[in-house]
Amino acid sequence: MISDERRQLVDNIRIAIAEEKTEETVLRVAAELIDGFSEGYNWTGFYMMRGDHLEVGPYIGPETEHTKIDLSSGICGAAASQKETVLVDDVKSDERFLACSLTTRSEIVVPLMDGSVCMGEIDIDSDQPAHFGREDKEMLEEVAVLVVERLKEINS
Ligand code: SME
Repeated sequence: MISDERRQLVDNIRIAIAEEKTEETVLRVAAELIDGFSEGYNWTGFYMMRGDHLEVGPYIGPETEHTKIDLSSGICGAAASQKETVLVDDVKSDERFLACSLTTRSEIVVPLMDGSVCMGEIDIDSDQPAHFGREDKEMLEEVAVLVVERLKEINS
């Protein structure tokens, strides 16, 4: 179960991305809406699979030097290769963490799964420790399903 405000966000994203006709704009609109949900979401964006690595897509937040990420590196690489959401309460104690900003304390990465294929992922950093909980995970996994459905419609 997710809260009413989270349900509202999922519904808003469904409606908004239905209007968008390119991958770039679908991802941008989704990132903007997700980012607006919480003041504790301090970097909100997408990485997409391009060949054998991840490339940064639309995001809201400080510029990142990690524009390309190998599947063997980072929290991002871990989520894409494990094909499961990775939630890190304290990035400083996770040796996989690749820092985009020195102020980041916690992170969640949710893969965009098309069956067993990872198309990319939603990545959110927070400056608050342990900012992400079960409801964020559930909400973002629902958003991931919507984004995958819309990207497949566009590409069909
Ligand atoms: N922290 C990520 C890298 C991406 S930046 O946060 C935007 C990671 O460890 O994979």
